[in-house]
Amino acid sequence: MFSGRRVVLGVTGGIAAYKAVEVCRRLVDAGAHVSPIMTSGASRFIGATTLSALASEPVQTSLWDEDSPIPHTRLGQAADVIVVCPATARLLSDYAAGRSSDLLTATLLATRAPVVVCPAMHTEMWEHPAVQENLATLRRRGVHVVDPESGRLAGGDIGHGRLADPATIVAAVGAALTLPDLAGLRVVVTAGGTREAIDPVRFIGNRSSGKQGTAIAVAAARRGAQVTLITTVAATAPSGIDVVPVATAAEMRAAVHQVAPQADIVVMAAAVADFRPVAVADQKLKKAQGIPEIRLEPTEDILAELGAAKPQGQTLVGFAAETTDVAANAQDKLVRKGADLLVANDVSAPATGFEHDTNQVAIYSAAGEVDSVPLSGKDAVADRVLDSVVSFRLLSAGSLNPQFPTS
Ligand code: CTP
Repeated sequence: MFSGRRVVLGVTGGIAAYKAVEVCRRLVDAGAHVSPIMTSGASRFIGATTLSALASEPVQTSLWDEDSPIPHTRLGQAADVIVVCPATARLLSDYAAGRSSDLLTATLLATRAPVVVCPAMHTEMWEHPAVQENLATLRRRGVHVVDPESGRLAGGDIGHGRLADPATIVAAVGAALTLPDLAGLRVVVTAGGTREAIDPVRFIGNRSSGKQGTAIAVAAARRGAQVTLITTVAATAPSGIDVVPVATAAEMRAAVHQVAPQADIVVMAAAVADFRPVAVADQKLKKAQGIPEIRLEPTEDILAELGAAKPQGQTLVGFAAETTDVAANAQDKLVRKGADLLVANDVSAPATGFEHDTNQVAIYSAAGEVDSVPLSGKDAVADRVLDSVVSFRLLSAGSLNPQFPTS
C-alpha cells in the first residue's frame, strides 16, 4: 500500500508533535517516501534533526529555501497523500480559509492529492464552534479527518482532544491512498491453521499464525469489499469485517460453504489439516496407558470442492506452503484444485511464511507466474495478492489487454 508512495508529513506546533516522529517511522517502515514539513510552532516542540533522521529527506520549514525556490508546488504536486499530524486549531483555520502563510499551508493549497488531518488540542478548543465549523468545511471539501481521542492532555488535564493513536493515523493515510477497487464485491478469506482434536487437551495443528490471511481480509475491506473472515485466530480479527471463528477443518468447511456461493472472491489462505483423528478420546489420554495409536482419516479438501463448484464470475485463490519445487508444486495444485490464482511461498526460506510478519511469494495463474513479490510485510503482500485478483478479473472480463501481469 505504501511501497514507493510519496507522503508529505506536515507537523504543526502542538504537544502531540512528538507522536509525529512515530507516525513518520511507521510510514517509512511500510515503504513510503516521507517528506517532512515542520511549522515554526512545531520546531518549539521537537527538533528538526529527529524527524530528518527518520524521514526519507530532510525536514523543510520555509517557503524561502535557497535550493528550491518553489518548494510548496514541488512537494504538493509530487505528493500521493499529505498528512498533517498533529493539526492545531490554527492550521485547521488557515487551511479552511485558504490562507498560505507558511510552507505547510502553501503546500496544502498546491496539491491535488488526498489530505488527512489529525487534530489535537485541548477539549475546550476542540469543542469550540469555530474549530468544528472549520472541520466541517474541510470535510465537505473531501479532507479526511482522524478524530482525536479521549485521554491525558497537556498540563495533566484529561478530556477529548488527544491525538489519535499512530497506528490509527497510518491506517487512515493508507485508506486515503487506496482506490476502492473492490467496492461492491463480496470477499471471503480463510486464515490460520485448523486444530484437530486428539483428546480434550491435545490436537493436531500446524504453525500457521493467520497473519497473512488476516492481512488480506483487512486490505480487501480497505479497498471497499464486504469481507467475511473465517479464521482460527479470531483474537487478531479487525473491526469492520464479519468474523466467523472456527477451529477444525470440518467447521471451516461448513462456514466456507455457507458464504462462498455468494462471494465474488474467495481466498483460501488457511492452512487446513489434511488429516484428523478418526476418533476423539472423551477423556485425556494418560501416559500410564502406554503409547497411543492414533488413526487418522483424510479431511475434505475445501479448495478443491470450491474449485469444482465455482459460480460464474467468482475468482478463487489458493495458497501453497512448500519446502521444495515451489513453482512446479504450485502449478500442479492450481490445476488440481481448480483455483484461478495460487499464491506460493517457500516456507523454508528465511523470514518467510509461518509466524513471521514478512513473506515472499510468487503468484500463479494457469498461464504461469503473474507476479513475484520480494520479501515484504504481510500487509504489502496482501495488496499484491489483491492486485493480481483485480487484474485477473479485468482480464477475464476482457477489459484488460492480455499483457497480464500488469505490475
Ligand atoms: N486446502 C483446503 N482444504 C484442505 C487442505 C488444503 O482447502 N483440506 C487449501 C488450503 O487452504 C490452500 C491450498 O488448499 O489454499 C493448498 O494447501 P496445501 O496444504 O499446500 O495443499 P495440499 O493439498 O495439502 O497439498 P500437499 O499437502 O500435498 O502439499
